[in-house]
Amino acid sequence: MPEQRPRYRVFATCDIGKDALDLLRERGYEVEVYDRLEPPPKNLIIEKVRAGVDALITTLRDPIDAEVFEAGKGTLKVVAQDAVGFDNINRADANHYKIPFTHTPDVLNEATAEFALFILASLARKLYPSERLVRENRWGAWHPYLPFLGDEVTGKTIAVIGTGRIGQAFIKKAVALDVNFLCFDPVKEAKGFAEKIQEEMNLRFLSEFTGEKRTIRYARFEECLAQADFLSLHVPLLREREAPTPTYHLINEKTLRLMKPTAYLVNTSRGPVVDERALAEALKQNVIAGAALDVFEKEPLPADSPLRDPALEDRVRLFHHFASAGRITRLSTDPNRGMAGRCIQALQDVLEGGKPADVPWVVNKEAFR
Ligand code: GLV
Repeated sequence: MPEQRPRYRVFATCDIGKDALDLLRERGYEVEVYDRLEPPPKNLIIEKVRAGVDALITTLRDPIDAEVFEAGKGTLKVVAQDAVGFDNINRADANHYKIPFTHTPDVLNEATAEFALFILASLARKLYPSERLVRENRWGAWHPYLPFLGDEVTGKTIAVIGTGRIGQAFIKKAVALDVNFLCFDPVKEAKGFAEKIQEEMNLRFLSEFTGEKRTIRYARFEECLAQADFLSLHVPLLREREAPTPTYHLINEKTLRLMKPTAYLVNTSRGPVVDERALAEALKQNVIAGAALDVFEKEPLPADSPLRDPALEDRVRLFHHFASAGRITRLSTDPNRGMAGRCIQALQDVLEGGKPADVPWVVNKEAFR
């Protein structure tokens, strides 16, 4: 007799990729998917959980809190988030109900880091205004500096705020642009990593790949703000009371004023790390030169957002929370390559017997020790 696998019921709040969901089905799971474009209303999630699903697959669009966990008391065994960030999941509530939740770290480091670098480049070298000029047939003549110039990245200082997985991946790629780095991390300095990058920079200089020796070092946040030509954010969103070092509105009216008027801000982390009203105002008053944003306080970006001000268009690049959206990164069923693969692997690891404290991608391990 073939072994009867337990049949688990899963509700996915979003289609995270057919191949991955089919893998669960092949294992005998019953998988229901909310396959509309927009997220399901919270009461629908609660209804599904109350009906007894064993697992939820969620995305960063779903608020998962005590109401959801209460509905799943005794039946809900895991929440598997298809993202690395999990600020939509209330960790204290998950711990209170002793429900493990998982995420998909690492597999999106490279895609997110390269995207941050590309939007930084697009902003600095004015790729959008240049293309628009050509498309709108306003390119009058080639000219040494008209109608506008961009700013080179080479030789500049990039401040990297948050030097965890994605911040480090960003630095590894940006080294090739021959820049200096200032680093700040509110929680933990990756000193060994910075030393290795410095060695790489020294080697680049010795090999005559660059005419100047570049440097990387940790600095105080205020120094990063003051010295940066580019400031790239790679911190998780932590609100007041969630952590001793909250990151909510880390970039605000006061901190923006510490930056150079020629500086550019890049955000691929979470929208609420930046106070958008303060940023729009700072841009209007030329407190800083520009911003490239992939994430927003409210997503999708509201029609009346001050960031859409046509007067700012040439200096503000806006993207649709797109940084990790590479084909392989989003959809690969290989847990070592794709978010979908890692998401379903984590879910199976918890459901099929792994002790949550031992499952590598469980976030709230503290509730199970
Ligand atoms: C994307 O923003 C993620 O957290 O995975």
